[in-house]
Amino acid sequence: MGAPACEHRVPVFLGDRSYDILIQAGSLNQLGDICQGVGLSGRIAIISNPIVHALYGRVVQRVLKRAGFACITVLLPNGEPAKSMTWLGKILDELVAKRFERRDAILALGGGVVGDVAGFAAASYLRGVPFVQVPTTLVAQVDSSVGGKTGVNHPLGKNLIGAFYQPKTVVIDPHVLQTLPKREWVAGLAEVIKYGVIADQGFFEFLENHIEDLRNQHETVIPDMVRRCCEIKAEVVAGDEREAGRRKILNYGHTVGHALEAWGKYSTWVHGEAVGIGMVQEASIGQFLGRCDREVVERQTELIREVGLPVAMPKWGFSDLWSGMQHDKKVVKGQINCVIPESIGRVQVLPLDRSDLQKWFSQTNVHGKRRTTDPHKRVSQNRLSKKK
Ligand code: NAD
Ligand code: GLY
Repeated sequence: MGAPACEHRVPVFLGDRSYDILIQAGSLNQLGDICQGVGLSGRIAIISNPIVHALYGRVVQRVLKRAGFACITVLLPNGEPAKSMTWLGKILDELVAKRFERRDAILALGGGVVGDVAGFAAASYLRGVPFVQVPTTLVAQVDSSVGGKTGVNHPLGKNLIGAFYQPKTVVIDPHVLQTLPKREWVAGLAEVIKYGVIADQGFFEFLENHIEDLRNQHETVIPDMVRRCCEIKAEVVAGDEREAGRRKILNYGHTVGHALEAWGKYSTWVHGEAVGIGMVQEASIGQFLGRCDREVVERQTELIREVGLPVAMPKWGFSDLWSGMQHDKKVVKGQINCVIPESIGRVQVLPLDRSDLQKWFSQTNVHGKRRTTDPHKRVSQNRLSKKK
């Protein structure tokens, strides 16, 4: 049976691992047909967490059952601590106990945390079982569910253990974002803005022109916005699945962002917030190194701040930042590589010299406040009000 008609279908071209991202309001109700459409025929393990499961678990179980799938459910605890070897082990224990076979599948119903762990379980159980992503946060719909990065954290750093493992399909129902806490919605906007800065000036301008809609989670902008992010991610991943080169641009904001997340013990900022601050800082580093104009930093900072994201660095020392950055996966022979904007819509990956970074840090960070060329400063409201 073919998959039902879809509002947007974004293909991810990866040879025999190609798949479609389906973006359609109400698609949760069609999951049974969609799973059949991608060839699933065995049982399905739904991996979720108590919050998401309470909201959407029943409907997902019902539609899968209606399509003839027998389901089991494994619930992870809420939040980043679930991205651990312990919880990966508990999923695998359950699959072994229920004698899951190679034709049986794993379906991730949740945000990036659930998707990353469930995907790694799918990659490792029996050396790989079919996997379906049903992302329910904005971060997951525009980023983490696409591209096959799966994994868990190590106590010393984020995402240090994992595998590239592509899903059979990604089913995005924008309706589920209605129950997302405001903070999580806004956090997702950091990843959305990221796509504009790294690859699409026109999309960045669209976001600048729809700040109110973005802040208010206006339904009219969501499907097109999610589609554009998925298109950019699909194009980048298709060209460099295993991050040998260009895919690194998707990590814009993450070198500083991951250091912040670890420093804040994964509880001070949610992922998207840390990425937003990271983007502000990495652009500021770019300006300090003469790689981009002040206007790039200011425009980006203004958009990030206007949608409601934090932009300020905490009261931390240079050694906190430097040691946090050492665990980044773009480190080669101890050399930190960081994504830096050249202009809106264009970035480059640059090796960072410790002494340069230290100079930047001491000139720009005084207890989390800017001292020079202040990218956190509010840019004239005139520019903003002229838009729209
Ligand atoms: P998350 O998965 O922790 O979800 C955020 C919160 O929203 C949780 O409390 C969750 O229970 C709740 N939630 C989820 N969907 C909901 C809904 N529809 N209604 C109400 N509540 C809902 O956080 P996240 O921001 O989605 O993901 C962050 C994780 O994703 C991080 O671990 C990050 O490293 C990872 N990530 C991975 C990739 C990748 O390429 N694999 C890319 C970006 C981020
Ligand atoms: N989120 C970064 C990547 O998928 O490569």
